[in-house]
Amino acid sequence: MVDGMLQGTVSFTLNRQPVAVAPAVGERLSASLRDRLGARDVKVGCNAGDCGACTVLVAGSLRCACLTPTHQVAGLAVDTAAGLVSHDPLTGQLAQSFQDHHAAQCGICTPGMLVAATALLRRVAAPTGAQVQDALGGVLCRCTGYRRIIDAVVALGTGWHAAPDHGPVGTAIRRVDGWAKLSGTEAFGDDVAPAGALVVQVIRSPHPHARFQLGDCDAFLGANPGLVAVLTAADVPGLNRFGVIPGFIDQPVFAETVALYRGDAVAAVVGQPEAMARFDPATFPITWHPLPAVQTVAAALAPDAPLLHPQRAQNVMGGGIVACGDAEMALARADVVATGRFTTGFVEHAYIEPEAGFAQVVGDTVEIHACTQAPMMDRDSLATILDMEPERVRIVPTAVGGGFGSKLDLSVQPFLALATIRTGLPVRMAYSRGESMQATTKRHPSDIQMRIGATRDGKLCGMTLHGDFNTGAYASWGPTVATRVPIHGSGPYRIADYRATSRAIHTHCPPSGAFRGFGVPQTAIAQESLFDELAARLGIDPLEFRIANALDNGEPTVCGQVFAKGVGIRACLVALRPAWGKALAEVAAFNAGAKGVRRGVGVASGWYGCGNTSLANPSTIKCGLRADGTLVLHQGAVDIGQGSNTVITQIFAEALGVPMAQVTLVGGDTGQTPDAGKTSASRQTLVSGNAALASGKALRAQVLRLCNAAEDAVLQLGAGEVMATDGAGPHPLDLSRLSVNADGYVLTATASYDPPTLPLDAKGQGSPYAQFGYAAQMVVVEVDLATGQTRALQFVAAHDVGKAINPALVEGQVQGGIAMGLGMALMEQFLPGRTENLHDYLIPTIGDVPPINTIIIEEPDAHGPYGAKGLGEHALIPTAPSILNAVRHAVGYAARSVPLNPALLLQAIREAGYV
Ligand code: FES
Repeated sequence: MVDGMLQGTVSFTLNRQPVAVAPAVGERLSASLRDRLGARDVKVGCNAGDCGACTVLVAGSLRCACLTPTHQVAGLAVDTAAGLVSHDPLTGQLAQSFQDHHAAQCGICTPGMLVAATALLRRVAAPTGAQVQDALGGVLCRCTGYRRIIDAVVALGTGWHAAPDHGPVGTAIRRVDGWAKLSGTEAFGDDVAPAGALVVQVIRSPHPHARFQLGDCDAFLGANPGLVAVLTAADVPGLNRFGVIPGFIDQPVFAETVALYRGDAVAAVVGQPEAMARFDPATFPITWHPLPAVQTVAAALAPDAPLLHPQRAQNVMGGGIVACGDAEMALARADVVATGRFTTGFVEHAYIEPEAGFAQVVGDTVEIHACTQAPMMDRDSLATILDMEPERVRIVPTAVGGGFGSKLDLSVQPFLALATIRTGLPVRMAYSRGESMQATTKRHPSDIQMRIGATRDGKLCGMTLHGDFNTGAYASWGPTVATRVPIHGSGPYRIADYRATSRAIHTHCPPSGAFRGFGVPQTAIAQESLFDELAARLGIDPLEFRIANALDNGEPTVCGQVFAKGVGIRACLVALRPAWGKALAEVAAFNAGAKGVRRGVGVASGWYGCGNTSLANPSTIKCGLRADGTLVLHQGAVDIGQGSNTVITQIFAEALGVPMAQVTLVGGDTGQTPDAGKTSASRQTLVSGNAALASGKALRAQVLRLCNAAEDAVLQLGAGEVMATDGAGPHPLDLSRLSVNADGYVLTATASYDPPTLPLDAKGQGSPYAQFGYAAQMVVVEVDLATGQTRALQFVAAHDVGKAINPALVEGQVQGGIAMGLGMALMEQFLPGRTENLHDYLIPTIGDVPPINTIIIEEPDAHGPYGAKGLGEHALIPTAPSILNAVRHAVGYAARSVPLNPALLLQAIREAGYV
């Protein structure tokens, strides 16, 4: 957004073209490029120089455009990623290498990466991996884990094999949506508003708990020319509440009299762009009366604690339980029992794209174009808030610059919708980095007490756990976390006697919601740490201890669910054996001669049930064939970088029997595409993949019937015809002779899939998921004994995905998940009011993620398309505990909380004299 106070014209060269702008005093180059010159390939992730997404070349040197005043580039050459890709052959080649290496996932960091890599390659034609890490250190990526970015840049000097654009299921084809991310044409939430759209800004509580009184808003508007409206709770025509779980719809669009967390929305201001650039939220007429706040579980459970929601006694939102056998009796029988209390803090999603979008009224429909993981859920929630028929709300998802769970919840959407309805004009908004971190959901902090027993021969014998989770001010996905934790608390192991309970507790903190794993990563830290302690006390190798207790086909989970096939944890663990033995020997040899540092090896595993827990979870996919031979796939599973556009198209094309290149995708626009459900819980490959498979097969059956061809006929799509060739020869189908339906198709097929689950009983027994995915990871770490710094040196990750529809996308998920798990283990800690930016809140940089060897295990699933299982969440579940176990192996300190930052580890090393 740019200010209208102009101060002369600045002329410079942009991507080899002369340009002139008239920026405001101190205007950021990023703002001039994006809003005055339309260079929206320059992304803004933080406006503070922390994320590097806006990196450009100024006179050939790297600059963060957000920190560069436009006046400073007068007379100079400015190059952005899009310009470089189009006019510099070196960057063009680099973009191809990014495509072939799957180095762009969501793509929001990609322009910055390409620019930084171009500057390196101009200096060093064949850089090493270390040089790439050094040169790209200023650009953050939250999706990829960086390794494929490093590979893609190094490949410019060493050469590489081009990846195919299409191929059967199992082929590592390029992303179908990859080039838009590399050419700079991908449009994210803040890239789509029309010029001149009004700007919306939310007024938020600066206090964790406060009563407030609004002042004279009419006088405020009158005193501020260019501001056109103030929105408050009184302007919500329908229900002033939203949420994601029926029965827990409790978050107000605008708080009415009391704010329950720092960041709670209380009003919104709408105005002309120039006026909003000058607007200071501190001038908004509101009076705050701070109230006592409870921000920890212990404080919220105290007898005199203020109740956040009067109907939820003791601030307990809900809980979960799974119990089988007699855990206490089994623990009493055990030869050894490991016990621990483990805590974790808030973790921020830290996607590089802050929430953004625009909205407009079209006829009798309100249209919201925004980044989201759940378009149909957004539509239905907005219909309730706006008191409109759902059909009058149209959600058009933009590209999503990372989501990881948080963009399942509404963010900008209700404010945009209310503002455009109120003004009748297009409106836009983009959260600042601080606002995004302050106001949106987080990973639940946890406080977990666990006991696990084992017999002398190394067999698990009883387990109890209780976990309290800080669910913040509003419910969000807290009920899901409370349910998932007891189900997954055992890990993928045989435990006949088990009792696990959980509670989600409200506090005056940001809402905790969905974040890659829904509570399972926190629980895995406790369980996998205690497994190592049991193995040590029994004198058993930690990997072999896990293999000996691994769940197998035909054995019941702690919920009593039995899978006849597809239980792949043993195969994952066994696959680590060679690397594990080698690493143990190498670490022992290293430590024997090391001074000042010690290395350790750690292993951990994980499992994750794909899809909703014991709830309906359907997805619908539609396809259509036009008279001219165009094949269209209405694919509503939002691709947030994980690759669902590619995977689902691969599955569909294979089922129909045509090349991928002939499929035209229509995305998750609720006006054009059936409900594929939300992108969460690692469900899209299983659920939408199966719907795509069925849709493709149904269309194929129609074509074969009309052609009178055999089932094994080969289909060829041509202009206006389909040719089916079987043993009897070719059978043409003239599409122009078929009648056209209301959607413009001559043939169409719509199919749905809902994974089979069964409800859980009062003890959590049942069949909560149609499938689980499995993972085991090992890591070598090095601890600096003088600083307490822990550095991961190498990961080996074995993941059972049933069938790798696209192996390159599998590796991308694994590497990205590991980077996120590494951050959780060693550095990430969100503290409300203190770490609301990307320089105080640290996420892994390109220098933090070591080489990752991914081993793909394929134990076919009974329900997955071509045997495939989901993967997104699994990738980080074993990472943090494997690192903690490696640190313990290195220095003897058994951590009980994360992040295990250098100060904590150093203190532990010194106090306990572990080394
Ligand atoms: Fe780098 Fe998403 S691909 S942030």
